Amino acid sequence: MLSDFLKNNSKKSEPKSQSQKSAVFTKDNKNNAQCIVLKAVGYPFEFEMMENSLEITDEGLFEQYARDQWLGMEVNSETYLFDQKIIPDFAFKVISAEPENSIISEKTKIEIIIDKKNNKTDLTESTVKLSDVVGQTNAKNKIKVIEKFLLDPESFGVWAPKNILFYGHPGTGKTMLVKGLAGEVEVPLHLVKATSLIGEHVGDAASKIHDLFEKASKNSPSIIFIDEIDAIALHRSFQSLRGDVSEIVNALLTELDGIDENKFVITICATNNPSSLDSAVRSRFEEEIEFILPNDKDRYEIFKRNIETLPIDCDLNIGKLVKLSKNMSGRDIKEKILKTALHHAIANDKDIVDMSDIDYAFESSKIRTENIKGMFE
Ligand SMILES: Nc1ncnc2c1ncn2[C@@H]1O[C@H](COP(=O)(O)OP(=O)(O)OP(=O)(O)O)[C@@H](O)[C@H]1O
Ligand SMILES: [Mg+2]
Repeated sequence: MLSDFLKNNSKKSEPKSQSQKSAVFTKDNKNNAQCIVLKAVGYPFEFEMMENSLEITDEGLFEQYARDQWLGMEVNSETYLFDQKIIPDFAFKVISAEPENSIISEKTKIEIIIDKKNNKTDLTESTVKLSDVVGQTNAKNKIKVIEKFLLDPESFGVWAPKNILFYGHPGTGKTMLVKGLAGEVEVPLHLVKATSLIGEHVGDAASKIHDLFEKASKNSPSIIFIDEIDAIALHRSFQSLRGDVSEIVNALLTELDGIDENKFVITICATNNPSSLDSAVRSRFEEEIEFILPNDKDRYEIFKRNIETLPIDCDLNIGKLVKLSKNMSGRDIKEKILKTALHHAIANDKDIVDMSDIDYAFESSKIRTENIKGMFE
């Protein structure tokens, strides 16, 4: 951890770089900075396995470390300072410098702002809320337990939630619910697609899986969400299709079992097809929660909420839409029906979406579904 490293290395004084030295000697006519405020902004670019978030547990120690390496630098509220020691090229933005265009001296007070949002999720910021998900009561109840656990993990003892499987029809809200959770909870949430854990070489996947769980347990309490888990945890009968599957399955089993009981890491996995999962992996889930197709009431709600967000007016009979959309998922309703109807209206230079656009969308989604069925017959 950075803080441990800082503790062990803060006394080592390294020679200043050329730019820093010249800053000390040529900027004598400038004022010394009284106080600067920094924000950790990360690397100039990203590549895989690179972490952009950092944790500072001892701010005094960080201040000394920062002052030591940037002594003599001229700063204003637009300057970027690059770390040159522990994590070379990691950038800190100067948010404010008092006075502006002053020189960092032995007496400059250095404060750092850690943006909590940066540490919150591995994905882009989630704007989804739990209340956006219609229906799926069982899954929402489980999420409630997880939220309570995260507020007071110690109190659950050996009864803590650990590994949970979400399964069911495509487009019923599995990923959406976890993104909703990301929007609500104040803990790190590591959202990954199972395929992103597969590497090019033998051993890559096992080490990526290990790194993921290690990172989560360092930041615990925390949540890992592995979407489309069937892509890596295939049932034994399919494992001969891919040479590295047993290595991946074993790595996953080790992590799902968790060596340290107190890690406070919750793993949620999602799949459309639980029967294709390796049975040992499947046995690790304490609960398998099914996501079902929305009933009439839920479809009414999904239509209503989505129609409110359409960019042009609508003249639609939602009751009729509910009847027409039996067996459709939330995704079908949004993507196949409403989006197609909207685009049809726009393409025909209309400023209102009406039932004729909806009829067109149902017709075209029927054709598409029939074509897809035909492909596998
Ligand atoms: N229960 C729901 N309530 C509201 N909107 C929904 C619901 N289910 C699906 N949707 C809509 O469909 C979109 C896709 O849903 P989502 O990606 O969560 O499905 P999924 O179950 O993860 O599907 P897959 O199994 O294919 O990964 C959502 O972004 C949302 O717009
Ligand atoms: Mg999904």
